[in-house]
Amino acid sequence: MEGGFILCFAAMMLFMAPGVKATAHLSFATNISQVNITRAGCGNTKVCVETPMKCDPAGNATCLFGSAVASAPVAPNGANVTVQLRGNSTGYIALGLTANETKGTTMLFICGQNSSDNGNFFFRTMQLNNTNQMLMATETQVKEIRGVVSGSLIQCEFIVLNVNASSTRNTQDTSFKILLGSGSVTGDVIGPFSITLTSDLLDLANPSGTSTVAPTTAGAGSLLHSYALLLLLGVVALSFTHRA
Ligand SMILES: *[C@@H]1O[C@H](CO)[C@@H](O)[C@H](O)[C@H]1NC(C)=O
Ligand SMILES: *[C@@H]1O[C@H](CO)[C@@H](O)[C@H](O)[C@H]1NC(C)=O
Ligand SMILES: *[C@@H]1O[C@H](CO)[C@@H](O)[C@H](O)[C@H]1NC(C)=O
Ligand SMILES: *[C@@H]1O[C@H](CO)[C@@H](O)[C@H](O)[C@H]1NC(C)=O
Ligand SMILES: *[C@@H]1O[C@H](CO)[C@@H](O)[C@H](O)[C@H]1NC(C)=O
Ligand SMILES: *[C@@H]1O[C@H](CO)[C@@H](O)[C@H](O)[C@H]1NC(C)=O
Ligand SMILES: *[C@@H]1O[C@H](CO)[C@@H](O)[C@H](O)[C@H]1NC(C)=O
Ligand SMILES: *[C@@H]1O[C@H](CO)[C@@H](O)[C@H](O)[C@H]1NC(C)=O
Repeated sequence: MEGGFILCFAAMMLFMAPGVKATAHLSFATNISQVNITRAGCGNTKVCVETPMKCDPAGNATCLFGSAVASAPVAPNGANVTVQLRGNSTGYIALGLTANETKGTTMLFICGQNSSDNGNFFFRTMQLNNTNQMLMATETQVKEIRGVVSGSLIQCEFIVLNVNASSTRNTQDTSFKILLGSGSVTGDVIGPFSITLTSDLLDLANPSGTSTVAPTTAGAGSLLHSYALLLLLGVVALSFTHRA
């Protein structure tokens, strides 16, 4: 079963009063045949993480691969992070961005196949509680979502908008640890996230620089705040097909 989509969400979030919000979603999908994920540019134009080590996302062997690159951040909104993800799963694969995998939360981006829907591709954003590993639905601004499913192989690309790590801690605005992993999908239920890889702290805006950033502890406790901010910003995911 093969299915590829460009998911286009146009969503609005209206703030009527503090604590009261209304959301409107519109989504549609267009068939695409390919998402090309390769190692080209790794350590140069994008930060790459993978398992097993140095495996080829363009090859036929099992390879869980993620890449990310942040645009130059522009205050006060932060940076846009372009992500690629590729791996084998009959459920979902996911890439997470976090400051500290042992506390706070992780922004989790899920690319999956839905066996209740002919194995078709779907995309979700979730918040992972790093303390108790619970997943919570969350709204994060993401655009240009593209995904292809072929057998157990899932490939996807998307751009996360307005990421700012330093609103909550004393480090670069674009420094995160990247998590890779997978889980099951049963109907509408996203199963627990099983973490396969946790990277060092990486500056996503500087793929060719010293990729490992000195850890910092100050202010790490309030990571939650940045996600609250992302939540407030809501979902406005515009496909490039709409930007023409
Ligand atoms: C993927 O790569 C193939 C071969 O290089 C090319 O023909 C195709 O247009 C590419 N697809 C996309 C979506 O970039
Ligand atoms: C992967 O498998 C396909 C189909 O079996 C084959 O056509 C292709 O050449 C293989 N690619 C590599 C890199 O081995
Ligand atoms: C992972 O996907 C690749 C590409 O389709 C496939 O050749 C390989 O057999 C899959 N591995 C597993 C364990 O399913
Ligand atoms: C990130 O957030 C901090 C604190 O809110 C702010 O001072 C800084 O300007 C922001 N950076 C960017 C690039 O948006
Ligand atoms: C992020 O993308 C949005 C929407 O395409 C754009 O308006 C904004 O300028 C971008 N931000 C950065 C820092 O590139
Ligand atoms: C994460 O789980 C811990 C332990 O159950 C809980 O104390 C904390 O409030 C949770 N954090 C969030 C953001 O839900
Ligand atoms: C999978 O497809 C079913 C049937 O269309 C739908 O009810 C369910 O919400 C989908 N699950 C996900 C995770 O998108
Ligand atoms: C991550 O959190 C743990 C537990 O609170 C703490 O011991 C550790 O120093 C933190 N690591 C970083 C890099 O902030």
